[in-house]
Amino acid sequence: MSTRTPLMAGNWKMNLDWKQGLALVEELGDHLKTVNTDAVEVAVLPPFVDLRTVQVAVEAGKLPISYGAQDISAHESGAYTGEVSGPMLAALGATYATVGHSERRQLHGEDEQVTNAKVKAAFAAGLTPILCVGEPLEERQAGKHVEYTLAQLEGGIEGVSAEQAAKIVIAYEPVWAIGTGEVASADDAQEVCRAIREALRALHGDVVADAVRVLYGGSVKSSNVVELMGKEDVDGALVGGASLKAEEFAKIAGYQ
Ligand code: G3P
Repeated sequence: MSTRTPLMAGNWKMNLDWKQGLALVEELGDHLKTVNTDAVEVAVLPPFVDLRTVQVAVEAGKLPISYGAQDISAHESGAYTGEVSGPMLAALGATYATVGHSERRQLHGEDEQVTNAKVKAAFAAGLTPILCVGEPLEERQAGKHVEYTLAQLEGGIEGVSAEQAAKIVIAYEPVWAIGTGEVASADDAQEVCRAIREALRALHGDVVADAVRVLYGGSVKSSNVVELMGKEDVDGALVGGASLKAEEFAKIAGYQ
């Protein structure tokens, strides 16, 4: 059992307008009263337009919920129509910025260079990047899942200092397990989460490797979270669909 505080982060993706988001956060706050939130960190990653509402609800209710964005601009300010910067997110009290989600990589063509720039932009704004990595089905079938995922990791954190690397969150999300109901086995998750930690060890040493939280994401539910969390190198979950239901997400957070 590690000493890292587990993180359960709910990625709402492009779901819930601000009123629905408000209702979900308030309901989640109620359900979390039965969860030991000193032992697990709970975070939500709403759409940008819901972040201010989430901030107000969390502050007003003193809810034990961190929050962050699903993406971040690689730029600090200026003529970047449609983008949202790290300083803007920091001003909203955000803790996290998700970077390199497979949906950004696949649907918006974000490559390693963009992902790396966004990781650095998050750090520059004082945010913690949640760097998503993970292989598509063909790579897994070819037995190249570890190699593929580590290349994404190394590209994503290139030029990041050891001090910054110690704070990053890595989310291993095999693409074939996202939104499919097909969860990776706990052993599969452990294999890649361990490989990620060992790659961090090789790059930045023991202190960094032992501090970094490595999450698993892909069809996580209350019915499979216990087995996943039983693995030594799995420090939490990045949850999509199941984070849209307050009771279910609170059950995931309260897996212990
Ligand atoms: O970022 C979370 C994610 O991609 C997993 O989604 O719906 O399979 O839990 P889901």
